[in-house]
Amino acid sequence: MREMLAGNISRYRKGLGLTQEALADKLGVTFQAVSKWETGQTMPDTALLPELARALRVSVDKLFGYAAYHSGTTFYENAYRGDEGYYWGVAPSQMCLKVLSLLPPGKQLKVLDIGCGEGQNAVFFARCGYDVSAFDISVAGLEKAKRLAGEAGVHVNFFKADVWDYRLDMNVDVLFSSGVLHCIKPELRDEIMANYKAHVSERGIAALQAFVEKPFIAAPPEREEHHYPFRSGQLFTYFHDWHIENCEERIFDCDSSGVPHRHADNLLFARKV
Ligand SMILES: C[S@@+](CC[C@H](N)C(=O)[O-])C[C@H]1O[C@@H](n2cnc3c(N)ncnc32)[C@H](O)[C@@H]1O
Repeated sequence: MREMLAGNISRYRKGLGLTQEALADKLGVTFQAVSKWETGQTMPDTALLPELARALRVSVDKLFGYAAYHSGTTFYENAYRGDEGYYWGVAPSQMCLKVLSLLPPGKQLKVLDIGCGEGQNAVFFARCGYDVSAFDISVAGLEKAKRLAGEAGVHVNFFKADVWDYRLDMNVDVLFSSGVLHCIKPELRDEIMANYKAHVSERGIAALQAFVEKPFIAAPPEREEHHYPFRSGQLFTYFHDWHIENCEERIFDCDSSGVPHRHADNLLFARKV
């Protein structure tokens, strides 16, 4: 949490073009205090948090990485609402099986599912014996995910977070994400991927899927507010210094939302060496 807060203070301050001195002046503290917050040596006093958030023009939640950038209701928030079934079904993705073969849960390995939706993959990992945390921006998705975990009799640490703001501050053994990385706006991508990479344990695995742009493939029917497909091969390039277990580019048919369409994606399994 400390590292996340530190990074966010620095990021939002720089985003506003404020120096550490200027922010310190607004808050009536020394610039050394701001510097220490930003390096994680100390944390701001609790009583100062609302003022700090105001000065950085964000909410306190957002400072801690737990708030949404969306003002309205997202496509998926609506899609996940209601009791009639699961939008993505309850069967785990094939990606989960590959993770199992690459890093079987001999000891309690930590998995993070980024943008877990209704939780079918996170719950599968928990059933296999992994120690699973999973986040999504959708409250309805998380409610369904918790229900699914309850029905399976497993515990998953589900929490609400925005992929734009959330940063890892402890290591995981498996970094997992399916169908979500395209939601990260391009200017944040390098920094977020660097944070993810830095927080995977030695010999840990990144199992990631990202949509890529192809001129001959139309935007999907799920009209997401933020849709920034990767360039072909870009996902692999981020992991050029890891051992690539498998990488492929795929074009496939999909009928989510009941409208037949096509996707292009990059699928990566890489091991930190
Ligand atoms: C295509 S779905 C994939 C869901 C799940 N990973 C799966 O494989 O079924 C995309 C997910 O990304 C989530 N999402 C979109 N923007 C997000 C953001 N900024 N932060 C966190 N999750 C986000 C949506 O709520 C949705 O659950």
